[in-house]
Amino acid sequence: MRININRNIFIVLLLVLLVAWFWWAYNNLDKPAIFCDEQTEICDQNTALYLDASRSVDERVEDLLARMTLEEKIGQLALIDRSNLSNSEDIARYNLGALLSGGGSLPEDRTAAGWQAMTAEYQSYTKKTRLKIPLLYGVDAIHGHANVLGATVFPHQIGLGATNDPDLVRRVYEATARELMATGVYWNFAPSLDVPKDQRWGRVYEAFSGDARRVDGLTASSIIGLQGEPSSPLVLATAKHYLGGGAAIWGSSDTEDYKIDQGDIELSEQLLRSEHLLPFQTAVEAGVGSVMVALNSWQGKKLSSHTYLLTDVLKGELGFTGFVVSDWYGVYEIPGNDYLNTVAAINSGVDMVMLPKDYKKFAADMLHAKQSGKISDSRLDDAVRRVLRAKFALGLFDREAPAPADLEVVGSDEHRAIAREAVRKSLVVLKDSRDILPLSKDVQTLLVAGSAADNVGQQCGGWTVEWQGIDGNWLPGATSILSGLKQTVSSKTEVIYERDGNFTLSDKADVGIAIIGEKPYAEGAGDNADPRLSTEDLAVIAKVRQSSDKLVVIIISGRALNIKTQARNWEAIVAAWLPGTEGQGVADVLFGGYPFTGALPVPWEL
Ligand code: GLC
Repeated sequence: MRININRNIFIVLLLVLLVAWFWWAYNNLDKPAIFCDEQTEICDQNTALYLDASRSVDERVEDLLARMTLEEKIGQLALIDRSNLSNSEDIARYNLGALLSGGGSLPEDRTAAGWQAMTAEYQSYTKKTRLKIPLLYGVDAIHGHANVLGATVFPHQIGLGATNDPDLVRRVYEATARELMATGVYWNFAPSLDVPKDQRWGRVYEAFSGDARRVDGLTASSIIGLQGEPSSPLVLATAKHYLGGGAAIWGSSDTEDYKIDQGDIELSEQLLRSEHLLPFQTAVEAGVGSVMVALNSWQGKKLSSHTYLLTDVLKGELGFTGFVVSDWYGVYEIPGNDYLNTVAAINSGVDMVMLPKDYKKFAADMLHAKQSGKISDSRLDDAVRRVLRAKFALGLFDREAPAPADLEVVGSDEHRAIAREAVRKSLVVLKDSRDILPLSKDVQTLLVAGSAADNVGQQCGGWTVEWQGIDGNWLPGATSILSGLKQTVSSKTEVIYERDGNFTLSDKADVGIAIIGEKPYAEGAGDNADPRLSTEDLAVIAKVRQSSDKLVVIIISGRALNIKTQARNWEAIVAAWLPGTEGQGVADVLFGGYPFTGALPVPWEL
């Protein structure tokens, strides 16, 4: 009898153990356990939850955040220009989370292959860290990946604004995103959602329009073009510059040599909202992953420390869940010392600081601020969470590095065709008093003159390889407006090009085209008290006028210029803005291949 009871108890215990094992197996075997080495705490990269792409973004964020040390968290909030790295090892040493190429901060090899090699090398240092959090690498690809020799350079935003074509804008930014990804760059400091009200500002051309509704109408398509769909992310977009820099007051800039750029905004809150906040609201609704703070002040207070606008309005009222990044050195322009500025900016709602230089000091300041309670655990974790969420949503932890074969998309015929379409649709007829447009392809003699006729650097403008752009014919794969004209006219047409207009014809030619305008500039370097054509340009126009029956003036500029007095005796005037590398788009329309459809994005008085 006793044996039977013992046997029954044994069987019951066995059954209980079996049930318990099956329960454990069900709950654990399909979810790999997280094995981290006790000493080094280096987690087995194949099993850590945050590296499991099948998990949700929030699960991965929370798992990673829980593993991070204070130093690792602080490293994710620093954005450094690559030129300020003491050495690349510091990426690992300081757990750096983000690098940028500011204007002109380029690899030695400026081709797409050189860029791809550079970003791959930087990323390799993150593999040496405990948690292997990938870098975000950011650039200003504001009219294509224009830092890169051979890339497609699209019209600057003011030209896209003139097209007022959301689908085209989406395709422009998607093409830009694909050229960025081929070089391992997954963060674009674009689009600008500024609404410039003063043509004297050097950043008018970086915006879509001086009309908030026109800007707003192109916002969602630019962000969706760059970021793609959540299921198939492209690059991280940046809605910039928050908020209102387009309404700065002339003469209020506190930056040496600048007059209005980064100046003070004195608008009422009601006008700031109606004229400048609208596009940012649309950007947030479109899922933009980052917002960059303007370097301006509003009613005398630096925006980088404006808690109401950064936290209450942007994150609270608009519900922005991405991360806020300060602009170049902006945190250190807040009145006070660097340490107090850092505390003020982070507590106001800045999540990542574009230092862009001294990451060692930033790390020390942040450590001190955290340990002294000046920055709370919750604020620090909120900032890190936002950055990590963007990285996981972007697929940074899961993407394969781009391969050399991916580089064929850079400057591809497909992308150049999109750029050419954008050039066509950006052209605005300011005047055509004798209905001479479009011109005939069979015109017998065509005179062409002007500084911008055969000058791809001028037609691209600023932020093209160099921060301030480079005047002259130096961009591989680009087509000047003159080349486009020559490719379009019939074989019977004689095209005579004289840059300075010194034609020696005995009789007047049928048509003369003067292609002139602004030399490249960027930001405050373009602040100009009286934007107008140079005396050199006006002299060339006068010579073309003398040598031709019909005069067409094509203006390359980043804004409206003061041509009121001179324009009276010009039959036709076309605003071409800053068309980029596909200059033949001008001839496509000038000779009737396509209609003029561009609409002024900013007021232009004649
Ligand atoms: C500049 C600009 C900003 C740009 C950033 C990085 O100062 O204000 O638009 O994205 O620095 O180059």
